[in-house]
Amino acid sequence: MKFPFTRLRRSRAYQWSRRLINDVYIDSSDFILPVFVQTGSKKKDQIETMPGIYRYSIDLLDGVIERALKNKIPAIAIFPLVENSKKNKLGSEAINKNNLACKAIQKIKKISDDIGVMADVALDPYTSHGHDGIIINNKIDNDETNKFLIKQSLNLASAGCDIIAPSDMMDGRIGLIRKALENKKYKDIQILSYAVKYASNFYSPFRDAIKTKKLLKTDKKTYQMDFKNLNECMLEVKMDIDEGADAVMVKPALSYLDIIYKIKNKFHVPVYAYNVSGEYSLIKCGIKNGIIPDEAILEVVYSIKRAGANAIVSYFANEIVEKYLKN
Ligand code: PBG
Repeated sequence: MKFPFTRLRRSRAYQWSRRLINDVYIDSSDFILPVFVQTGSKKKDQIETMPGIYRYSIDLLDGVIERALKNKIPAIAIFPLVENSKKNKLGSEAINKNNLACKAIQKIKKISDDIGVMADVALDPYTSHGHDGIIINNKIDNDETNKFLIKQSLNLASAGCDIIAPSDMMDGRIGLIRKALENKKYKDIQILSYAVKYASNFYSPFRDAIKTKKLLKTDKKTYQMDFKNLNECMLEVKMDIDEGADAVMVKPALSYLDIIYKIKNKFHVPVYAYNVSGEYSLIKCGIKNGIIPDEAILEVVYSIKRAGANAIVSYFANEIVEKYLKN
């Protein structure tokens, strides 16, 4: 490997040659598209802190699904904005058969069988305090929360949800949910565990989107992971796989590429990465203000794929396919 016999610029010199030596490819099948839903009809509201991202009323989902199908995106993830009047300390709206998430799932399943539907299991859209679990004696109670999460999972399953995605970070919930699904003969429903979820500052625009930010009076550090730690991600993933998860998620993605890499190389299950709201908005605002070029969105998803993610939950999904993957 000595200059001038080795000249690394030789293979970089032409566009055709650069194409030949590419290691990593992005394709429309690499994405899950997050979609925010709200009550009402004919409503499409811009989320202020997420330029280009909207909350849709259920009657407008036809257009959303049509675009995703056209772009060959394999699955979408539903996130409901729940009205304040329906929130309480227990988050009991989460187990209402006619709640917004269930209605959205039913609607999408009616529109098409060709797109997977994923939904979060966590109580934060439904609690009056914005936490993912139930508070007992000023603490998020792990085991009481799990009882609710099981019911929430069965509720989503009966609405037709294909992928149940627990994002609550309670210990032991994957095993309990898997057992409950098996007992009720929902044996083909996938569990994508948000196994590695950090207590991140980058969730902030998402909390605007589902209006939980103002309700939250404390942080989520007693259940979400500490970004100063390296090893516990391995234990989280191992436990969730042993308990019956089909796949695991690392979240956020960009500040955690090392974690994606580590997990991908150690475990033989699909690894998803969530390129979260704050990561989206930072880049989107940078592009909108002319600070960075548009191609930055490609650079971001390639970095996540290079780190080892099988697929990426991304607010950029449609945009990337439409701008960069159509030839
Ligand atoms: C809820 C949940 C959050 C996100 C997905 N599910 C936020 C949180 O834990 O507070 C964040 C997604 C994003 O920021 O794009 N448990």
